Amino acid sequence: MAKKPATTFICQSCHARTTKWAGRCEQCGEWNTLEEETVSATPNRTSPKKAGRLVTTRLDGTVQPPERIDTSITELNRVLGGGIVPGSAVLVGGDPGIGKSTLMLQMTCALARSQHPVLYVSGEEAIDQIRLRAQRLELDHNPHALDSLDLAASINVADIAATLEERRVHKVVVIDSIQTMWLEDVASAPGSVSQVRHCAFELIRLAKTVGFSLVLIGHVTKEGALAGPRVLEHMVDAVLYFEGDRGHQFRILRGAKNRFGATDEIGVFAMTDTGLREVPNPSALFLAERRGNIAGSAVFAGLEGTRPVLLEVQVLLSAKAGDGAARRAVLGWDSSRLSMILAVLEARCGLKLGSMDVHLNVTGGLKISEPAADLAVAAALISAATGQPTAANSAYFGEIGLSGEVRQVPQAELRLKEIGKLGFQQAVVPRHVGNANARPKPPKGLALQETGHLSDLVE
Ligand code: TYD
Ligand code: MG
Repeated sequence: MAKKPATTFICQSCHARTTKWAGRCEQCGEWNTLEEETVSATPNRTSPKKAGRLVTTRLDGTVQPPERIDTSITELNRVLGGGIVPGSAVLVGGDPGIGKSTLMLQMTCALARSQHPVLYVSGEEAIDQIRLRAQRLELDHNPHALDSLDLAASINVADIAATLEERRVHKVVVIDSIQTMWLEDVASAPGSVSQVRHCAFELIRLAKTVGFSLVLIGHVTKEGALAGPRVLEHMVDAVLYFEGDRGHQFRILRGAKNRFGATDEIGVFAMTDTGLREVPNPSALFLAERRGNIAGSAVFAGLEGTRPVLLEVQVLLSAKAGDGAARRAVLGWDSSRLSMILAVLEARCGLKLGSMDVHLNVTGGLKISEPAADLAVAAALISAATGQPTAANSAYFGEIGLSGEVRQVPQAELRLKEIGKLGFQQAVVPRHVGNANARPKPPKGLALQETGHLSDLVE
């Protein structure tokens, strides 16, 4: 006798499973987050006689690097690892309103202009709204250039699948957004974990069998997770996050996962009246509003993937208010590293900042994760504490150890090149130890000031 399909309930917040519905999830304590999911209790087992046989092969053999579809957007190509891999699935995540639809529409039009048949399916906007956006982006001035672009408004994955299976012409398909998609067989609302997962699974399966590249747009919730499922991240080949502060112009596209390339690349864009503009030289942009001669600021030469970027680290010190612990407000950097540097400055250099509130900000809305920023942070702190601006023509990089020693960091020459390119005359860097031949060579016109210990900086 066939068993009744089993019903489970999945918490939309923490993904815990239970067999009984409840108003509140027992795992995470959230209210009204349990949603029903029905699965067939016993999967049909075929007998070994009927089942096919695996074709096994050897590990050695020649491999071709995957082909790439050039999106014509350099910053996007970079993050993808050189373009879209045919047949792959890419998830583009980000906060609502950050510019995902804009970027993807620009990409779709660019692909169509280079004669790639593309399909853009919107479950969020009506066709007229997309047309208006295209007009705003000035993408429609030569309509025949966009002959290879098909537009559709739908949330029905079965319809989308049937269309794609029948037409089989599209090379790239964009789904905006996966949270609006819906499959009739799944008994929950669009945007729920089950719907998102089943819809994504169906679309990815289709991409692999029909042979198009799939781009799924997904909204990120306030908590930072892709609304509904983290599972999506496991299902796709690449995950790109579109980040930025809505109050700022800059948008950063960051690779979080990539089966076909590096994940530490970033693409930098600026949101303008006519859509997203690429920023080939982010350092100049991030430093554009910097004013020299202000205490508490230092320029850091960082690396984002293979790419050097110069950023400004700003520090503001103020006397602690009240009896409690001093405040440490950090934007764009790691607050535990800030505490460490404060401790080192106090213990090794006698700079007492324990009774001060510290506010630290990295300009441009970028987040730094490199310890190489230690020296710039220390320089900004020392400058704020002494009231003396750091030299306006210097940039900093180097890691700081617990005894106050300044340690070497990777890719010094690349950083120096970028510092030179932006017209700085001096770079404050870790003292070179070891093989003299391996000493990083600065570009012409850039002087190196090597520092072995933080106390050199204080002097
Ligand atoms: P959108 O791409 O709709 O965001 P998402 O798909 O991530 O939700 O971007 C919407 C925002 O971008 C909106 O606030 C308006 C702004 N915008 C511009 O500033 N310039 C433009 O050319 C366009 C199309 C949008
Ligand atoms: Mg959108």
